[in-house]
Amino acid sequence: MRVFIENDYEKMSLRAAEIVKQQIQKKHNTILGLATGSTPIGMYNYLISMYQRQEVDFSDVVTFNLDEYVGLSRDNKNSYNYFMYSKFFNYINIKKENIHIPNGVSKDLEKECSDYEYNIEKFGYIDLQVLGIGENGHIGFNEPAELLETRTHVAKLSEDTIKANKRFFESIDDVPLYAISMGIGSIMKSKRIILLASGENKAKAIKETLSNKLTTKIPATVLALHPNVDIIIDKDAAKLLNT
Ligand code: PGA
Repeated sequence: MRVFIENDYEKMSLRAAEIVKQQIQKKHNTILGLATGSTPIGMYNYLISMYQRQEVDFSDVVTFNLDEYVGLSRDNKNSYNYFMYSKFFNYINIKKENIHIPNGVSKDLEKECSDYEYNIEKFGYIDLQVLGIGENGHIGFNEPAELLETRTHVAKLSEDTIKANKRFFESIDDVPLYAISMGIGSIMKSKRIILLASGENKAKAIKETLSNKLTTKIPATVLALHPNVDIIIDKDAAKLLNT
């Protein structure tokens, strides 16, 4: 894993956006894996500016989002579908039919998961996957557990994640308990992965991810098995690394 320690959130975001831009310049029909949460918002803002300056064209880009809450429809402000359109897709020239986000209100969640996985496979897997990381080391909603799911699945959110995500909801009781998430295998089949982290609250998870030890209790540690991962973090998230 290559590690890039940037001075601050803006620099972290810009480096990530540059990587995405270069990937699309290299392959106009890139299959992009995307993440939600606070961390990638800066990267999306830079990509929107790059698009406005005509440095990048999303017209042939295909996207797959990592996850979606079960029970939240696309018009719910807390859904990841809503997030992606309001933070990114509404401002670039991506085609609607090229956007894939799991449907959290599907009548048949199992089928939704297997169709989603099949669709990623049909596109030949993801060229560049953008990841955040939870304070507990989760990637997507692959939470610390004895067993990790390899394929897209319905995941139960951990207590830690419910607490971390409650800031987006009116009350903790409104945070969904389940989500559809790509599995560890869906993520690991990506040709290239960039993981972003900002802030001291991520420092422990980053140290553990880079510990060269693998444990399902810190799902991000599996990234050590992947041949092409960039960990792009700010100084605060790097605080516990011996640099
Ligand atoms: P955050 O979430 O970007 O909002 O910190 C990251 C994650 O939980 O994966």
